[in-house]
Amino acid sequence: MVGGVVMSATVVVGGFWGDEGKGKIISHIAHADKPKIIVRGGVGPNAGHTVEFEGKKYGVRMLPSGFVYREARLLIGAGVLVNPEVFLNEVRTLKAENRARLDFRCAIIEERHIDADRSSEHLSGKIGSTGTGCGPANADRVMRTAKLARDVVELQPFLTDVPLDVNTAIDEGEFVLIEGTQGFALSLYYGTYPYVTSKDTSASQMAADVGVGPTKIDEVVVVFKTFPTRVGAGPFPTEMSQEEAENLGIIEYGTVTGRRRRIGYWDGELARYSAMVNGATQVALTGIDKLDRECYGVREWSRLTKKAKEFIERVEDDTNVPVTLISTGPSLEQIIDLRDEKL
Ligand code: GTP
Ligand code: IMP
Ligand code: MG
Repeated sequence: MVGGVVMSATVVVGGFWGDEGKGKIISHIAHADKPKIIVRGGVGPNAGHTVEFEGKKYGVRMLPSGFVYREARLLIGAGVLVNPEVFLNEVRTLKAENRARLDFRCAIIEERHIDADRSSEHLSGKIGSTGTGCGPANADRVMRTAKLARDVVELQPFLTDVPLDVNTAIDEGEFVLIEGTQGFALSLYYGTYPYVTSKDTSASQMAADVGVGPTKIDEVVVVFKTFPTRVGAGPFPTEMSQEEAENLGIIEYGTVTGRRRRIGYWDGELARYSAMVNGATQVALTGIDKLDRECYGVREWSRLTKKAKEFIERVEDDTNVPVTLISTGPSLEQIIDLRDEKL
């Protein structure tokens, strides 16, 4: 509390290799807590968030996945790479012209970055990159040769100073939701290098991406899925065979690339390390219905099966952090929210 005003900012990040269901969790928090601003950090359009809402399925790569909550402004932080075509398309499709804005310092992905990513034996071949140009564009940014959003004519109507907007809202006592993309084990610093993305992916990076200092963040929600997944190459200690995954009825495909996701068992060691580096204050657990079909769509703790409850207790033991949100299916309302009881 500063000068009698309660400040509030929450960061949501992925705890494994991305695709944990951050989009779903962010949309739920947005509807429940009504943020003034939802602001995206993370690498760029390599991300794909899926949100199912009112019977429709949406995928976003550039705009914050909290867009289904219509009252919030939707911002993209300066740290995020922007592909103008993808951004403008999403703005048009989601009719978000009045509320979508990006920082004037976002670096731009050009056609040559996409070509370089796709034709690189190292990136596309060995690492299994998404082919969206993110690696080469971040390389140009480090070399200080990248174009910025302020240089692109079509983006002019959407430019803003994101840190100023976000910090003003926080200082006025409004709630701001900061949305991470990718996942902890894809971090350039802490992930399974070199099989990682082109930037750090931890909560501190998300705050830096949108220009918010660590003293202003009060909650960090790390999202884990019951069965972690990975797309692209690289180590995956708890990976199961495709056959085992099929027997468990778990088949997933990437939102951006359409590639089949590799599937594994719960990794308590990684979850603990991820919760530590992220400074998690809460854990959101998705896919409890994949652990036990009987839990599909359940909305109360008391209706979860013994197997599910024991798994959740194990997650709390592994991470040393309370599990406050339990997702029981892909749709927005399929969730158990324990924040009032546990925080
Ligand atoms: P990235 O930023 O790319 O890492 O995306 P993300 O974390 O938002 O996840 P993504 O949408 O790519 O993948 C998660 C998938 O799981 C989506 O298809 C969701 O609809 C689905 N999903 C989310 N929560 C649940 C759940 O509790 N149960 C089931 N069965 N599916 C879920
Ligand atoms: P890049 O970020 O496109 O360079 O890809 C590097 C690695 O990160 C590859 O293994 C990708 O599959 C992975 N990756 C990047 N973004 C995501 C994401 O949003 N979800 C899952 N994997 C991702
Ligand atoms: Mg995804």
